[in-house]
Amino acid sequence: MNLLRLHLHRYQYHYSHPKLVQLPNPFVSGHHYHTRINRFNTQARNTKKNHSFSTVTTIKAAARAISVSAPDPAATMVKAIRVHELGGPEVLKWEDVEIGEPKEGEIRVKNKAIGLNFIDIYFRKGVYKAPTMPYTPGMEAVGVVTAVGPGLTGRQVGDVVGYGGNPMGSYTEEQILPAEKVVTVPSSIDPIVAASVLLKGMTAQLLVCRCFKVEPGHTVLVHAAAGGVGSLLCQWANALGATVIGTVSTKEKAAQAKEDGCHHVIIYKEEDFVTRVNEITSCKGVEVVYDSVGKDTFQGSLECLKPRGLMVSFGQSSGTIDPVPLPALGVKSLFLTRPSLMQYNATRDELLEAAGEVFANVASGVLRVRVNHTYPLSQAAQAHADLESRKTYGSVVLIPDGN
Ligand SMILES: NC(=O)c1ccc[n+]([C@@H]2O[C@H](COP(=O)([O-])OP(=O)(O)OC[C@H]3O[C@@H](n4cnc5c(N)ncnc54)[C@H](OP(=O)(O)O)[C@@H]3O)[C@@H](O)[C@H]2O)c1
Repeated sequence: MNLLRLHLHRYQYHYSHPKLVQLPNPFVSGHHYHTRINRFNTQARNTKKNHSFSTVTTIKAAARAISVSAPDPAATMVKAIRVHELGGPEVLKWEDVEIGEPKEGEIRVKNKAIGLNFIDIYFRKGVYKAPTMPYTPGMEAVGVVTAVGPGLTGRQVGDVVGYGGNPMGSYTEEQILPAEKVVTVPSSIDPIVAASVLLKGMTAQLLVCRCFKVEPGHTVLVHAAAGGVGSLLCQWANALGATVIGTVSTKEKAAQAKEDGCHHVIIYKEEDFVTRVNEITSCKGVEVVYDSVGKDTFQGSLECLKPRGLMVSFGQSSGTIDPVPLPALGVKSLFLTRPSLMQYNATRDELLEAAGEVFANVASGVLRVRVNHTYPLSQAAQAHADLESRKTYGSVVLIPDGN
């Protein structure tokens, strides 16, 4: 099986088998793809002649050796998604952009996989304001370092790195990043899996370990339990010993949420989730609600809390939340917080600790990453349309075309 066939097999597998996957490392990335395939095939033929080329492991080792070679430094024109005006998915345009060379403190990274996050939709629609216009969307990617800025130590060409958070601009074949914003991706974790879990997993980490410390005996309510963050959040809260109640919109999503550690699943399009939480908890309520849905669930979420419970409002996929009158919290002496990953990973130490815990939990099996949907990067508009219309489960990943 040659490299291309292996690659296509992997790709088709993604499209047709949405389930828990731990994929082999992708081999080759970027705009030297075809020349690299030729070089790879030559190398593979030679390897076969000399060393009875028989295993996928051998192919992977040879391909990895090729993929870390530095590209032509002059080739800094890349394909990227650009947004020139706010609007629907159709404003995501596939264009050529010049990325330049890394300066002091920066690296250039050729992306292997780009995580799609709901925040990308907020920026596209203008719910949050993008720092520039036009702009390249995206807050998460994993790739290979192709150049390091002058004087930078601790990073070298060929390192596999990931980032989740600022700066915006990951919907591109290659990008310049501040070295302090990236973390090393362990070689045991496939770059596609890493791009599916880094930002969403660090969000789950802040929610269950820092914003509120989930412990055995707690009962937690997680809305959108089959979503990208929701899937990881339920698994993590379950592993910490909590009783997990999840809400989802469909029976199919309910089945996934069950697999991900929800002890009780409520289909909130069909059932009143406040009534169901009261039944499940014998009217005691839950210690904490993790609410990323916002407008449609916020009020009901407050009603599900125990006295002195914590309302964690960390997103608004259904729309912006109406202003909250303070007396609404006074009825049960509730706490309300609106955390953001950027503030919880404000320092390098916080970033390293959060990413380290996420990768450790992936390696140990506490987190089983659902890479349910992959799209070519050029098809980002379709990916946005599917995420926005609630068609997706688990993580959504964009793969640079030709990878
Ligand atoms: N604060 C932070 O730092 C932070 C960081 C990361 C993510 N987030 C937030 O976490 C949430 C999840 O992000 P994600 O990327 O993992 O997305 P996601 O959960 O995979 O997708 C959003 C889900 O929200 C649910 N939903 C309910 N009403 C919706 C509506 N009217 N339109 C669209 N979706 C609706 C859907 O699940 P059902 O079909 O089951 O209802 C949908 O699948 C987002 O709100 C995001 O902003 C916050």
